[in-house]
Amino acid sequence: MTQPPVRIGVFDSGFGGLTVLRALLEQLPAAEFCYLGDSARLPYGSKSRETVARYAVESARLLENDGSQYLVIACNTASALALDAIRESVQVPVLGVIETGADSAAAVSVSRDVLVLATDATVQSHAYGAACAERGMRALEQACPLLVPLIEEGWTSANQDPERVAVTRRVLQLYLEEAAGRAADAGMTPDTLLLGCTHYPLLRDMLDLLAPANIRILDSAQTTARRVQRELGAPAAATSSASATSRRCRFLATDSVEKFQSLGSRFLGQPIREVEHIDLGG
Ligand code: DGL
Repeated sequence: MTQPPVRIGVFDSGFGGLTVLRALLEQLPAAEFCYLGDSARLPYGSKSRETVARYAVESARLLENDGSQYLVIACNTASALALDAIRESVQVPVLGVIETGADSAAAVSVSRDVLVLATDATVQSHAYGAACAERGMRALEQACPLLVPLIEEGWTSANQDPERVAVTRRVLQLYLEEAAGRAADAGMTPDTLLLGCTHYPLLRDMLDLLAPANIRILDSAQTTARRVQRELGAPAAATSSASATSRRCRFLATDSVEKFQSLGSRFLGQPIREVEHIDLGG
């Protein structure tokens, strides 16, 4: 008898988690997904632990009630601040992206010093510092609070206006310079740069140009997808087309569905056709 497809709930404060969903769709070809973007309450990265936990728990419960058998918290901020609260509030297994990000750095770092770029809230939580320490590494955690709004506004390399692209490039450069100064002061020699926010893969081409040539840039999407595949014992995969995605994934957003479609398509790397609006309250 053929098994029904496993249903995986994927949650982010908005759009960034779509970079993780993209890897999950490729890695788990037989699974079905429900993606919830809490776009009405984004950004989480500047909010308190209590607020992020309240929002994330509501979203996780919604995904569980909708039939998800496994939850991926595809938001570093929610993973850093609310993973325990989420796990306590649902019955299904929950995976956060901090652990998988730290795993991916641990697999490649030789110097055992890792530079982590993340939101303010993730940095303040020192979740990466703790996860890296558990794996015998030191983390230099650099807050980059301006990056999420710039990415949300589309001021990435894909923008037609070179002045806007230049603004983002300069901001990124300043954060990297600040991190390099702090690393030197602390006697650290990072050989790995971890994207500790699921929005940041959209700046990958800028980072490739601006980061020192000897630093390896990683994000947690692939490691997360491989971990889910291993934990679920799911067969590994080939590719995913836009039509296959719309059959396999339900998209829920707490703010404008039009905005989710247009912005989300950039993060997912393919068109998002149908989005349902849901209201989680204030
Ligand atoms: N994508 C979220 C993360 O990975 C950050 C976006 C936000 O601030 O809500 O941390």
